[in-house]
Order: sequence, then structure tokens, then C-alpha cells
Amino acid sequence: ARLVVLVSGSGTNLQALLDAIAADPEGYGARVVAVGADRDGIAGLERAERAGIPTFVCRVQDHPVREAWDRALAEATAAYEPDLVVSAGFMKIVGKEFLARYGGRIVNTHPALLPSFPGAHGVRDALAYGVKVTGCTVHFVDDGVDTGPIIAQGVVEVVEEDTEEGESALHERIKEVERELLVDVVGRLARNGYRIEGRKVRIP
Ligand code: GRF
Repeated sequence: ARLVVLVSGSGTNLQALLDAIAADPEGYGARVVAVGADRDGIAGLERAERAGIPTFVCRVQDHPVREAWDRALAEATAAYEPDLVVSAGFMKIVGKEFLARYGGRIVNTHPALLPSFPGAHGVRDALAYGVKVTGCTVHFVDDGVDTGPIIAQGVVEVVEEDTEEGESALHERIKEVERELLVDVVGRLARNGYRIEGRKVRIP
């Protein structure tokens, strides 16, 4: 399967995918054909360049309206003819046009146990709420914010120190679980195919 990976930050989830593919290019069942970003100068893009993977940047502020940005992102992505789009720390909500083209084929990873704590601050919000367990969710993207069908989740315990040290230590522990989960899920979707039936995702 051909993957386009979208990033906005450090790209450690992207790196985990690249490492898994490099370790077993045939066996993994997918390869990253391009990496897209919504901003310049991020480590995620450098990781792609280091791996010799083409990149593209699509910035909201370069477009007169949000819809034009969404269309440009869809077109830049389409140029690489992906089977799956992986949103790996991509901090933008894609729009109608992108969903029309790639609905049911966009996988997102979120650092909380959905449906709790959707949105841009899942780790902080979970911590502020005082939960004792949190984690990460890999799910398909629909037209809501972190509301699409769940594919897999990983659990991380909140420890006493997290409340003092804040969200970063907890986020790091979540990301360790998240990277493994994402690599596993994307590989299984690519190798086995899947069906989305309502809110249920079936991977044979
Ligand atoms: C991940 O925890 C992702 O869920 C999120 O931001 C983080 C991205 O990390 N919303 P990276 O860029 O893959 O290192």
C-alpha cells in the first residue's frame, strides 16, 4: 500500500513507520511515498528528507480561504496516489474536499482514550480532569474532531509525578505506546485490507 503521512511537528510517529518499513520492506506491506506538512521547518520534514522521501508543505496562510487550503492539500496528496493517508501529529482539521477524496482512508492518532479528551490538548485535558488511566487512540477520520471509528487503543497509567511535572512526561509515555500502536495498525490495514461498518472497523 502507498502511504502519504501528514505531520506538523517532531515526526516521531512518522519515524516509527519509516523504521518498521526499513526493517522489513516487503513484509510490512506499505511504504511512505510522500510526507506532507502544514508548516515549514519542522523535524518531521527533515526525517522524511533524510529518508529520501518527497515532501510538500501546504500552509493555511498561503490561501485566501480555508476551503482553498483544503483543496490544495487534497491535490498535493493526490499527486502521490496514496491508498491510505496517515495523520501523524498533523494539527489541522481537514475539510470537505479532502474527506470527499480520502474519507474512510485517513488514519489519525490521538494522545487520549477517545471519546474522552478530543481536540488539540488531549494530554493536558486528561491530566486536568484527574483521570488515572489515559492512552492513545488510532482511528479513522470523519467530519468531526477526533470522532471517527476507532481502530485500536493503548492504555497508559497516570502516575503521581505527572501532576507535578505536567503534561510532557505523560505525553512522552503515551507516545511510546502510540508509535507502536500506529505501526501495528497501519501495517495490518495495509496487509489485510479492512471494512468500516458504522462505527466498527473490521480487519480480516
Ligand atoms: C502525538 O502524540 C500525536 O497524537 C499528537 O502529537 C504527537 C505527535 O508526535 N497529537 P510526533 O510529531 O509524531 O513526534
